[in-house]
Amino acid sequence: MKPFGVTEAPLLTKPAAKRLFIKTYGCQMNVYDSERMADVLRPLGYGMTDTAEGADLVVLNTCHIREKASEKLYSDLGRLKPLKGEAPGMQIVVAGCVAQAEGGEIIKRAPVVDFVIGPQSYHRLPELVARTARASGERLLADFAPEEKFDALPDARSVTGPSAFLTVQEGCDKFCTFCVVPYTRGAEYSRPVAAILAEAQRLADQGVREVVLLGQNVNAYSGLDETDAPSTLARLAVALATVPGLDRIRYTTSHPRDMADDLIAAHGELHALMPYLHLPVQSGSDRILKAMNRAHTAQSYLELVGRIRAARPDMALSGDFIVGFPGESEADFEATLDLVRQVRYAAAYSFKYSKRPGTPASAMQGQIAEDVKTERLARLNALLYEQQEAFNVEQIGRTLPVLFEREGRKPGQVVGRSPYLQPVWAMGDAALIGRIAEVRIESATHGSLVGSLVEGRSDPHIKATPKLVEVAV
Ligand code: 5AD
Ligand code: SF4
Repeated sequence: MKPFGVTEAPLLTKPAAKRLFIKTYGCQMNVYDSERMADVLRPLGYGMTDTAEGADLVVLNTCHIREKASEKLYSDLGRLKPLKGEAPGMQIVVAGCVAQAEGGEIIKRAPVVDFVIGPQSYHRLPELVARTARASGERLLADFAPEEKFDALPDARSVTGPSAFLTVQEGCDKFCTFCVVPYTRGAEYSRPVAAILAEAQRLADQGVREVVLLGQNVNAYSGLDETDAPSTLARLAVALATVPGLDRIRYTTSHPRDMADDLIAAHGELHALMPYLHLPVQSGSDRILKAMNRAHTAQSYLELVGRIRAARPDMALSGDFIVGFPGESEADFEATLDLVRQVRYAAAYSFKYSKRPGTPASAMQGQIAEDVKTERLARLNALLYEQQEAFNVEQIGRTLPVLFEREGRKPGQVVGRSPYLQPVWAMGDAALIGRIAEVRIESATHGSLVGSLVEGRSDPHIKATPKLVEVAV
């Protein structure tokens, strides 16, 4: 197997002459975008560095989903100012959703910024870098269609491990009343099946064993297939499972409304599809769900979870929750706790409601006091913490196939992921990295599992086994 991080594209093997530092804020989609920005700049001689000091090009890839995003950006820009003072050739770029939402303001407020670029325009980075190297202060916020971006990004990708993100869908038409995504990322767009398969094949050729399909509404995926008919995420997953070398498929983030029957069924039938599903519910109160424009109720969500677990009994669920949405009463909040108790989450992300300018919820009556939000978040987190720990402890005594990703902290230790996305630590040779091996789980904490390799049960054995995951519940 080829070492990770090394690609065979001849252009990319040139020694990097210029240093590129990218700071990524926010979601996995931004992580993917940052990787793609590095890919598009690599042929120009830019290689990644892990500090802004001495960098020729600094990209701040911002997130706008909750408040303090722009405060964080301006404080980072403040820290970059003296660095640029010492190295006037340094270029500073603001990318991502804050760039999209507040581009003009950024240029006005922060002269240190050379240009601002929205998420649909990353393929134009090389041109802009060259242009602003000559005339500073230029701004671009072009609203290009996503298909143009995806077509224009280079095929070559550098990979850093056996698991890679792959964006299949972007944007959101759901307009939850609290959320800025429909405004910053635009309408839903799905990449064609063939383009995704080709990218997955190239990743697999570089040693990638797992793809994480990304989309703001990934289960609304409807990219065109080879007959120009819209596909579904389930059919895309079936096609991806045939790519030689790809053993694991994950996807995130899903909306309960788009959890189609074929996708649920695929979880029971397609062994490459991992038994972990991020399915945000946001609240357990129907009144709040309605005010959020979520288009589902607590009951319909619970029924959906029931159908998913009927198809795949060991499915690990994770969710997103917002506490302190405008008008949320103690009873509404308790309905959320009640829903959490019924679902039993394996992992979760919980947030205090944060007012986003321009969203309908920001103008709603009944905004909740900060101390109430803080108190509710602490109670919710305590319950979610308990559930995550319980889920991990339940794995003790089971043997799980682990995809090893990197060396551990201790010498002779390796770390990988279980099918349920838990980090798993085991003593073993670094040669296991990039391979799937069976591990008997011996102990668990809230955050991870520890186990021992099952003698002789690494890749070749597992590959010969038709069922990758033994369902034992
Ligand atoms: N306030 C708090 N949390 C939010 N999210 C999105 N918008 C807001 C907001 N205004 C959370 C949701 C979403 C996750 C990505 O971020 O829970 O699922
Ligand atoms: Fe935001 Fe709702 Fe769209 Fe998710 S589904 S990105 S929360 S608007």
